[in-house]
Amino acid sequence: MDTSKLLNLREFEPLAREQLSQMIFEYYASGANDDVTLSANQSAYQRILLRPHMMTGNAQRSMKTTVIGQPMNIPILIAPMAYMKMAHPDGEYAMARAALSHSISMIVSTTATVALEDVAAAVPNAANWFQLYLYKDRAAARALVERAESCGYKAIVLTVDRPVLGRREADIRNNFALPSNMEIKNFPAEANREGVSAYHAPIFEDNLRWSDVSWLKSITRLPVLVKGVLRGDDARLAIERGADGIIVSNHGGRQLDGALATIDALPDVVQAVDGVVDVLIDGGIRRGTDVLKALARGAKAVLLGRSLLWGLALNGETGVGHVLDLITQELDLAMALCGCHSIADITPDLLADEKKIFQNSV
Ligand code: LAC
Repeated sequence: MDTSKLLNLREFEPLAREQLSQMIFEYYASGANDDVTLSANQSAYQRILLRPHMMTGNAQRSMKTTVIGQPMNIPILIAPMAYMKMAHPDGEYAMARAALSHSISMIVSTTATVALEDVAAAVPNAANWFQLYLYKDRAAARALVERAESCGYKAIVLTVDRPVLGRREADIRNNFALPSNMEIKNFPAEANREGVSAYHAPIFEDNLRWSDVSWLKSITRLPVLVKGVLRGDDARLAIERGADGIIVSNHGGRQLDGALATIDALPDVVQAVDGVVDVLIDGGIRRGTDVLKALARGAKAVLLGRSLLWGLALNGETGVGHVLDLITQELDLAMALCGCHSIADITPDLLADEKKIFQNSV
């Protein structure tokens, strides 16, 4: 459908629901258990209010920034998400093309339905990252990381919040399975031959330890970001093991239900990290003002997830582009109305009551 008239990110989801099968829609949409964390991620942003500057002469604005030393036109990346061909036949190709045309980096998932080499070949000048689920078989894990390195991915994002899969009752009810015409293309060949679904993937490490970060650092020259951290002390352990960046995430509410909202976890992590590496965040971001609030709390960039899948489902590459256009325009508007010229102007004092919130959050 034509998504060009949609006014904001929230308008995409109900339309995508009409378009997708119940099994596919609910796989993407649902959280774990009672969706407490899924909804907290969004509602927590609405409790944070802004204290804008006026009269700053900011008709000219820039959203340029750097994230782990990499230049970005806008402080937004595409979160790793599984099985994009379920949303649209062009799947990861469409997402990657839209990312490139908006100069946004996409984090390609281990559980993609297009091989990481094929995504890279489709967008030769992209500055994309690769998300890693660590395999129990470290030789196979190393081979996967080497594949990502050799076709130009610029960082590895290690997901650490999935030692086991969270309980998503909608998927149990729907008897979720990857449609038979799709494969997890990054899996070792024998795993796909045996028909192993990533969903119950027995090949993923279920005994994750911080020493795995050291191991990953020892086998790659790429920067490693650790995704799924919700506590400052864990962030410190990740940094001690060599992490080059921290992504505050609760896996979009899909793992531990009852985990705190990511924007509420952020201050403790930012304080513990103390500027040693960049901190990023995902979960619940639907508005440009949410991006601004996350940056004001110390995130260097945000990752967008589900809204982009809805754009993909509704209108392929063009639909993803419309979601990216909307959030970019909204962030620019939020900066304009907060008196910001640049990303550096997005500081904690723009948040009402931040001092109190900061003290209570640890
Ligand atoms: C999920 C896994 C695949 O959240 O990341 O479904």
